[in-house]
Amino acid sequence: ENVHTEIVSDSITGSKAVAKEIADLIREKDAKGEKCVLGLATGSSPVKVYEELIRMHKEEELSFKNVITFNLDEYYPMKKEDIQSYWHFMHENLFNHVDIQPDNINIPDGTLAMDEIIDFGKNYEAKIEACGGLDLQILGIGRTGHIGFNEPGSTETSRTRIITLDHITRVDAAKDFFGIDNVPRKAITMGVGTILHAKRIILMAWGHGKAPIIKETVEGRISTTVPATYLQQHSNTTFVVDQEASSEL
Ligand code: GLP
Repeated sequence: ENVHTEIVSDSITGSKAVAKEIADLIREKDAKGEKCVLGLATGSSPVKVYEELIRMHKEEELSFKNVITFNLDEYYPMKKEDIQSYWHFMHENLFNHVDIQPDNINIPDGTLAMDEIIDFGKNYEAKIEACGGLDLQILGIGRTGHIGFNEPGSTETSRTRIITLDHITRVDAAKDFFGIDNVPRKAITMGVGTILHAKRIILMAWGHGKAPIIKETVEGRISTTVPATYLQQHSNTTFVVDQEASSEL
């Protein structure tokens, strides 16, 4: 068993611990004159981590000048300025409030033409590699067991590509889009293979709703049916879960 599960009292405590690890890594890299390459996630799970990082930037001189970020995914099609875009989410919840350089922000582009996506995926992967790989990837988890938008059927070696969203995922996103009919049917996502290449991975899950999928992910057989189970094969992954999300373990 490679996966280490850390059960915390609540999402605030867990988020602060995750933010502390990120800040320590940024500072450690800074001291060595190195860039810190972070893989970032959207959704409600990481929001409090970003709040804590913003606080540390404002009150504790945590600088993002040497941070390079790669986001996991973006809906397709999606304009940057739409309120549901992950581009918008990341700027609202983190980037607009810290000193990151805009050139160091990488988010899959939801405005590409279909026939540009294969090259986009190759370039995204190449750029991650050129930066020395992801030092730390943070993740939430969808009820289908997706990480990023790697829905059931995604293989261990999958890379950045376009995928079709699962019906359950679209149901869960419906409130953000004022109805399921407005939820995009596709997304561009890093692959399971891209994620597994990160040197360190932290997956966060809060609340009762995540308890069944956390049980399957941590204890279930590794298979494409629950793509998050592939994390069991990664040597440096921690699941930070609150009491509720851990209640079926
Ligand atoms: C979306 C994102 C995932 C995220 C999941 C869970 O599908 N693409 O990266 O993990 O939602 O969202 P939440 O954190 O809001 O539960």
